[in-house]
Amino acid sequence: MSEALNEYILNHMDEEGELLAALNRDANVNLLRPRMLSGHLQGRILKMFCHMLRPKRILEIGTYTGYATLCMAEALEKDAEIHTIEINDEMEDFIMKYVSRSPYADRIKLHIGDALEVIPSLDMWFDLVFIDGDKRLYTQYYDIVFDKVPSGGIILADNTLWDGKVLTPPHRSDLQTIGIMDFNNRIKADHRVEKVILPLRDGLSIIRKK
Ligand SMILES: C[S@@+](CC[C@H](N)C(=O)[O-])C[C@H]1O[C@@H](n2cnc3c(N)ncnc32)[C@H](O)[C@@H]1O
Repeated sequence: MSEALNEYILNHMDEEGELLAALNRDANVNLLRPRMLSGHLQGRILKMFCHMLRPKRILEIGTYTGYATLCMAEALEKDAEIHTIEINDEMEDFIMKYVSRSPYADRIKLHIGDALEVIPSLDMWFDLVFIDGDKRLYTQYYDIVFDKVPSGGIILADNTLWDGKVLTPPHRSDLQTIGIMDFNNRIKADHRVEKVILPLRDGLSIIRKK
């Protein structure tokens, strides 16, 4: 999408709000890879999905700054909650700085650790899962979380077009592209789910358990 069209969209939809704008600025000034956070457009889309799906419990794999966590929490009903897992313990202070300022803080449960170890310890169902961690591990996240999603539940996976790199055979050392391509092939072949890939930003897969 052209920069101008992107600008037009952002000017004709809901604003991200002061807290998220501050987080976004803070990330751009102080963090190494600020582009990893969902951002204004995708954040509002995630919030809209949550309004439409009305999940009682969400699981996010890969918190980073907490941007998407805060967006989804905005749409949760009072008794609903979002569990989010971040492997990098250096992000905890940044995340909690903004979560603590959110009116929805009590709906957010942050787990610091490897999702592959944390998920098996969470003895609960998730109506909505947002996979956004290490691209090499997407298929493993999917397998480990699948039985915790009820029939009709939704799994979202971010970056599934991986900057268009999915179109060409990857170099054998490019494990992230290989991880994303394996994941996309696996989902395509999985008859237990319905699936589409939205060409939003870097590709957002929507997977519905039958
Ligand atoms: C793309 S960022 C997440 C962005 C965030 N979901 C958002 O939309 O604003 C990916 C994050 O996943 C984390 N991560 C990578 N592997 C992980 C794992 N196995 N378990 C938990 N977090 C992981 C990284 O440290 C990084 O902060």
